[in-house]
Amino acid sequence: MASPPPRVSLATLPTRLERLDRTSALLGLDLWVKRDDLTGAALSGNKVRKLEYLCGEARSPAIDADTLITCGAVTSNHCRATAVAAATLGLSSHLLLRGSEPAVPDGNLLLGRLVGAETTFIDPVAWPERAERMEAIAVALRAQGRRPYVIPEGGSNAVGAWGYREAARELREQAERLGLDLAQVWHATGSGGTTAGLALGFAGTSVEVCGVAVCDDAAYFDAVIEGLVAPQDPRARWRIVDGYQGAGYGRTTPEDIAFYGYVAKREGLILDPVYTGKAFRALVLEAAAGRVPRDRSVVFLHTGGIYGLFSFAEAFASPS
Ligand SMILES: Cc1ncc(COP(=O)(O)O)c(C=O)c1O
Repeated sequence: MASPPPRVSLATLPTRLERLDRTSALLGLDLWVKRDDLTGAALSGNKVRKLEYLCGEARSPAIDADTLITCGAVTSNHCRATAVAAATLGLSSHLLLRGSEPAVPDGNLLLGRLVGAETTFIDPVAWPERAERMEAIAVALRAQGRRPYVIPEGGSNAVGAWGYREAARELREQAERLGLDLAQVWHATGSGGTTAGLALGFAGTSVEVCGVAVCDDAAYFDAVIEGLVAPQDPRARWRIVDGYQGAGYGRTTPEDIAFYGYVAKREGLILDPVYTGKAFRALVLEAAAGRVPRDRSVVFLHTGGIYGLFSFAEAFASPS
């Protein structure tokens, strides 16, 4: 896909690039944060950039979808963003959610429901069949005369990756204006699309794209990302940073919670325990170990996730 697919405007762009003065001084880095947590309010985080292209394709005359179908965890940011994007564009949405229905929805699920998403909950053991389950929902909708469009988990396919290919261009322009010599861009990797898009956007440059695996491992993500980027640009490079999955996907520890509180107080940055918290912690620990360049600028891409935080209210209430 050499030229960008159709796009609808959903995100507030460009997002800000801000220097983290206190953390830079602490770690001896020139550390900046790209505020993709500020792509919007209900429609915020990294998924919005992908959804601009996915919704662009869904609304193209050839498809003319009236319903978006996608899947993720019960607390998924991607599902919430898809539901809000659908409502914003006058479409319906149907979310296939991994886990059981909570008695009282909060965070992302609450917002998804508020904008009218239909939900189907499935047992985690059936998750490997998620593509087939979404297709079954699509078949049922087509039988009713509806026009569904299926978005894969995390919006991570060749179309969605365009969001971060373009974000890389935006970041390069900002860095150029500020006179920064970018060395690395750190971010959370959950389904691989953000890393793939950045790798494409920075292909052929000296910027290293560092994706911190929040689940699975480097071998898994390398295969996923290779599948997305290789057909588009064989020069694309990335590095999956392994070993910071901590207690596992969506799990946290009192030490993690204390770290997120520390960053919030020190920089006013709100990190979520599932994605951005793990990625930022990895960056800080790798920097403390002397494995992050000090003579060039480093960017942390804040990918959002604030609503996921509310599912951890109890952990934050008693951090130790
Ligand atoms: C807040 C947040 N950050 C990062 C990611 C990871 O992005 P990707 O799925 O493109 O790897 C996600 C994915 O759900 C997310 O919700």
